[in-house]
Formats: sequence, C-alpha cells, structure tokens
Amino acid sequence: MARITASVYTSHVPAIGAAMDLGKTREPYWQPLFAGYDFSRQWMKEHSPDVIFLVYNDHATAFSLDCIPTFAIGTAAEYLPADEGWGPRPVPKVQGHPELAAHIAHSVIQQDFDLTIINKMDVDHGLTVPLSLLCGEQDPVHGAWPCPVIPLAVNVLQYPVPSGQRCFKLGRAIGRAVESYDQDLKVQIWGTGGMSHQLQGARAGLINKEWDNRFLDRLIADPENLARMPHIDYVREAGSEGIELVMWLIARGAMSDCSRGAMSDCARGAMSDGSRGAMPKLVHRFYHVPASNTAVGHLILENP
Ligand code: DHB
Ligand code: FE
Repeated sequence: MARITASVYTSHVPAIGAAMDLGKTREPYWQPLFAGYDFSRQWMKEHSPDVIFLVYNDHATAFSLDCIPTFAIGTAAEYLPADEGWGPRPVPKVQGHPELAAHIAHSVIQQDFDLTIINKMDVDHGLTVPLSLLCGEQDPVHGAWPCPVIPLAVNVLQYPVPSGQRCFKLGRAIGRAVESYDQDLKVQIWGTGGMSHQLQGARAGLINKEWDNRFLDRLIADPENLARMPHIDYVREAGSEGIELVMWLIARGAMSDCSRGAMSDCARGAMSDGSRGAMPKLVHRFYHVPASNTAVGHLILENP
C-alpha cells in the first residue's frame, strides 16, 4: 500500500526562486535564509519519496478570475513552469503521477469533497519555489526533480476562500486516499505559502513573529483545534496573504495521527484500539524574517 511518510511545510516567496535562479544565494541578505534549508536538502536526499503531493495556490497564473476552483487536483502527466511576467523560471518541467492522482481524486470525491480535475495547467512559484528550496538548483533542460508531483491548487486569492476546518478535513481525506492505493509508494505531502505577509495596502510588509511561531507550535501539537481558527484571524494577525497558511492544515490533516480514526479522536491522543496513528516526529523547524516583504516558516514532520 502507499503511505504518507512525511509532511513538509514551507513558504513559497517568489524572490527566493529569483535568488536561486540568479545565483544570489550566498549574498549576505539571502545566506541565512538558505542556511535554514541545508538540513532539509540533505534530509530530502536521504528520505527521497516516490511521489510528492504538493498543496499550493496558483497566483492568477493558471486560473484567471474567469474560473476560480476552490480545490483543484492535477491529473496531468506533466506541468510546465508558468510565465509569471518575467518568463518562466529556468527549472525543469514537473512530471505528474496521473494514476495516483486519479485514485486520490476518486477517493476524495467519494469522501464528499468536490475537487476540480485539471488535466492541463502551468505551475507558478507557489509550486516551483518549494521544489527548488528542498531539492536545490536543477538544470532546466538536462536536470529533473527527484520524483513525480501531484499538484493540489487551493483558492486563497479570491474570496470566499475555504476555511481552515475544511482544509484540515480535506487533508484527512487525502491521507486516507493515499493509504488505499494498492502500490507500495512513499508519498510526502507538502503544504506551502505563508507565513505572515501582506503584499499591498496600508499594512503592506506586516510581520507577526509571535503569531507565526504560535501557529507552528499548534500545527505540530494541536492541529485539530488550530483548524477551528476563523479566516478573519489569519488576515488580521498575519496579513492578507497570511491566509495561505490554511494550506498547511491540508498537509497536517493527512498525517496518520489525524487521518486515521474518527475526527474527534484527533485531539485526544492515540485510541485504545491503536487504530489511530501516533504523533508525527518533528525533524526540522526554521523561521526567518525577512525574505522580500514576508516571513518564512518551514517544518518537516515524519510519520512514525
Ligand atoms: C510574494 C508572493 C507570494 O505569493 C508569497 O506567498 C509571498 C511573497 C511576493 O510577491 O513578494
Ligand atoms: Fe503566495
């Protein structure tokens, strides 16, 4: 059976991708940020998955205001890096995993979540910057990402956006979907975006370190209650784009302590019959300000 081996959480600031593409990672401004990912790149090499299920948001690149899917799963065989205004990033195209993606779509829709199926789309910094951060520089033509990727695009741009609760429950359904796939695959689930940032208006540049770190604490240890936080709290405390953090709850919900057993078991610790998974192990935590106008957060959790 397929299983979720780990979850990875990281911001996806486009300037990080530009710093890598332009060879600026050793500049004093960027060096401390990339140092926080040294461990993660080594860990990725040692824990190479067969597939990455990557939760991100499109930034009006693949989807315009003509059509706004709340949750869209990519079932394509490949995805090209998108032109975001300066041309596409010089990174390899992303290989998909149509078979597992189709299985997850089927299972999750049968668990009552209405996913949009995407058979063709380009992917922007929301997806390529996390890959670059965790996998390092890749030659755009002769290089390749370490494994296929299944994109899940979440609308956090155009209101109404999905609640943290909805995202957390969707993550649980994805966890079950992966575990019902009858091939031995090691799957990682990544949640991207955040932490606190606001890109426009009177509060542009807002950073709330205390709130961000409390979010990380609760995501690790108390995700079910964290998921109850209303969306207005993200916006008020973490800035308008801080709402991207709801995507981290999808990845967290798919970990075995949350995805197995009944919903209410999640807050209570392991069930007596052992059916619920044990708490994940925190293997890396990093927080850094600034990267462009934003705070950067990063976690790696392993399923036991
Ligand atoms: C920026 C854009 C993002 O999508 C994000 O998540 C963080 C920062 C930016 O334009 O700086
Ligand atoms: Fe973003």
